[in-house]
Amino acid sequence: MSDQAPHAGAGTASTDEQARVAEFEARIARGESIEPKDWMPERYRRQLTRMMSQHAHSEIVGMLPEGNWITRAPSLRRKLALLAKVQDEAGHGLYIYCGTETLGTDRQELVQQLLDGTAKYSSIFNYPTLTWADIGCIGWFVDGAAIVNQTMLAHASYGPYARAMVRICKEENFHKRQGYEIMATLAGGTPAQRAMAQDAVNRWWWPSLMMFGPHDKDSSNSDELMRWGVKRKSNDELRQRFVNLTVAQAKAVDLTLPDPDLRYNEETENWEFGAIDWDEFWRVVKGDGPCNRERLAARRTAHEDGAWVRRAAAAYAAKRAPMSEAAD
Ligand code: 3HC
Repeated sequence: MSDQAPHAGAGTASTDEQARVAEFEARIARGESIEPKDWMPERYRRQLTRMMSQHAHSEIVGMLPEGNWITRAPSLRRKLALLAKVQDEAGHGLYIYCGTETLGTDRQELVQQLLDGTAKYSSIFNYPTLTWADIGCIGWFVDGAAIVNQTMLAHASYGPYARAMVRICKEENFHKRQGYEIMATLAGGTPAQRAMAQDAVNRWWWPSLMMFGPHDKDSSNSDELMRWGVKRKSNDELRQRFVNLTVAQAKAVDLTLPDPDLRYNEETENWEFGAIDWDEFWRVVKGDGPCNRERLAARRTAHEDGAWVRRAAAAYAAKRAPMSEAAD
């Protein structure tokens, strides 16, 4: 998103537009919720559509690495929990696509962008799930990070997005708990199970920190999103909260986070951590991660395989339409 926002003082917007933006920003400053039928700056609409579509895509693509393990879960109980989680993620995606539709963008357009490979989704889902411990780590780290982020978004200024987050966060809490239980079980198991859990922690820790986006100074969208009350906390604030929460959890199950620079700062009461590999982050975001191609190929195949369902649903809706009109 490169054009300048027509906010107060931009000089490029009409006086009327500037007055409307000023009133819009005053509403947000008063803590009011912006609803679909309310006036909003075009840029606010586009920022939300960008963010919400990427969020929805992340939920849908996020099903793929986990779906990989449904048939290989070590017990019926684990299989049921994973099945429920993956189904939840599909629901989260559809929920958030509904949110983007309240902003005037049809989900088919967004789905096509994902299938075309032109849409972003969270980089974390471009990493492979090599062992069962990865499923535990995704629940613990990835859903744990999502909870930190989404708890903040539940207070976003755009009503439909904030309300979607309330429902989603409740389900994410189950996702995190089932993942952390897997890790606690493995960490307390045989030496081979412990080693599998530690290996997963070593591979998922840093990509999970990247979920919160670049450092604030490098975040091209944060200033605007924070001014307009979409983000109530910055990327770095949320990342720090996640680290503070997770260090204690790792200690509780005697697993080691792979960061020799991790140390507690008594003054700030934060766990300071080492440097994130932003070259890796941008490489994965730009499509050159371990599983980017595999994920898109799987998504395209699923979409093609599901074409008959969409045709049947459309035919059924068309057949019912005259009857429902007659009944009205
Ligand atoms: N993966 C891919 N792209 C990322 C990224 C990541 N982890 N972090 C940042 N980016 C992209 C941004 O999209 C932006 O690119 P764009 O302008 O072309 O869209 C660029 O990097 C610069 O980042 P910014 O910090 O400026 O971007 P934002 O202000 O949008 O902040 C964000 C990034 C924190 C991810 C924010 O968009 C956000 O909170 N999104 C909503 C939540 C979300 O999408 N979470 C993803 C995971 S969902 C999930 O985990 C599901 C759970 O069930 C497991």
